[in-house]
Amino acid sequence: MKVSKEKLHQLIANKIHAAGLSKDHADIVSDVLVHADAKGIHSHGAVRVEYYAERISKGGTNNSPNFTFEKTGPCSAVFDGDNGAGHVAAKLSMDEAIKMAEENGIAVVGVRRIGHSGSLSYFVQQASSAGMIGISVCQSDPMVVPYGGAETYYGTNPIAFSAPGETDNITFDMATTVQAWGKVLDARSKNAKIPDTWAVDKDGNPTTDPFAVTALVPIAGPKGYGLMMMVDILSGVLLGLPFGKHVSSMYHDLTQGRELGQLHIVINPAYFTDPVMFRKHITQVMNELNAVKPAPGFDKVQFPGQNSLAREKQSEVNGIDIVDEIYDYLVSDDIYQKSYDNKSPFAS
Ligand code: NAI
Repeated sequence: MKVSKEKLHQLIANKIHAAGLSKDHADIVSDVLVHADAKGIHSHGAVRVEYYAERISKGGTNNSPNFTFEKTGPCSAVFDGDNGAGHVAAKLSMDEAIKMAEENGIAVVGVRRIGHSGSLSYFVQQASSAGMIGISVCQSDPMVVPYGGAETYYGTNPIAFSAPGETDNITFDMATTVQAWGKVLDARSKNAKIPDTWAVDKDGNPTTDPFAVTALVPIAGPKGYGLMMMVDILSGVLLGLPFGKHVSSMYHDLTQGRELGQLHIVINPAYFTDPVMFRKHITQVMNELNAVKPAPGFDKVQFPGQNSLAREKQSEVNGIDIVDEIYDYLVSDDIYQKSYDNKSPFAS
C-alpha cells in the first residue's frame, strides 16, 4: 500500500518511542528509515522497525545514552554513541563534522560504540545539503567470505558518497557485497535459484541454491574484499573497536549494545576550488553522463544514485510503498510481534 511520508514518519516514530526511545531520538530514527523507504531502499526502511523496537525494549539500544564529542585536532574528532541508536549518533556526529569542515576545510569524525545506523546515504546527504562532500563508511556483522575463503570474516561494510550539484545532489551508496542478504531471502521465499555470483555454501563453493547459502561474497572479487577491509580499518580498528569477525552480530544478543563503528569524512569544496564552479561542474557531470549513448538493452545512462533520487521525488508526490504486513504491525499496539532474539543472520 502507499503511505504518505508524513504518516509513515509518525507511525515509525510512535513505535520506536513506545519501545522506549525518547521522542527526539525516535524522530531521528524515523527520519532515517523514511528516507530509505522514500529512495526505494526498502531493506533499510520500515522493515527494520520491529527488530529495532525489540532491541530497544530489551536494553540492547541505550535509551538515554551519554553522547560525548571530543575534538582531537583541528580537523579530527571522536563521537561516542554510548550504544544508543546508531541513526541518532551518526546524524548528530555528521552535524558536528559539517561545522568543523566549515571552519577548517575538512573533518574526519569517528563515531564509536553505536547501534545499526541504517542507510548511509542519509548522513552523506546532510553534508551535500550543506554544500560539502560527505563520505561515510561503517561496520556491519560478519556475513561475507574474504576472497578465496570458506568462512565469514567481514560484514557487508557499506560506503556512501554525496556531492552537491546546483539543484540536486549526486549520491552513491552501496554495500561492498554483490547482493544484500535480503535478496537471498527473497529467492528462498519464491523457491527460485540465485546467480552463482552472489554467495557461497558451507565449503566456500559458489551456489545457486538460496537455501545452501552460508555467506555472501564481496563485489568484484579481491577488489571488493579490499574495500571491505578498508572500511573495517577506518570504522573499527582506527576507533579501537571490535573488528573483522569480532564485530557483534545483529541478532545474537538483543540485551547488549553493539559497539559498532562508523567514520564520516567531510570536505569543504571552498578550501579547494571555487564552490560555485564546483556545484556547476557536478551538475555538468550528471548531465554529461545522462547524455552518454546507451548500450543495447539500456534506455539511458543514469548517473550513480539517479534511480534513488527519482524514486525519492516520486515518493513526495505519490507516497511510499509499504508492505501490508509491515503497515499492520506499525498501526498495532504491539512493541514487536515476531522475535529476532538469537536468530541466525542466515535464517529466513
Ligand atoms: P544497491 O545495490 O541497490 O545500489 C548501490 C548504488 O548503485 C546506489 O547508489 C544506487 O543508486 C546505484 N545504482 C543502482 N543501479 C543503478 C543504475 N542503473 N544506474 C546508476 N546507479 C545505480 O545498494 P546496496 O548495496 O544494496 O545497499 C543498500 C543500502 O544498504 C545502502 O543505503 C547502504 O548504506 C545500506 N547498508 C547499510 C549497512 C549498515 O550496516 N548500516 C550495511 C550494508 C548496507
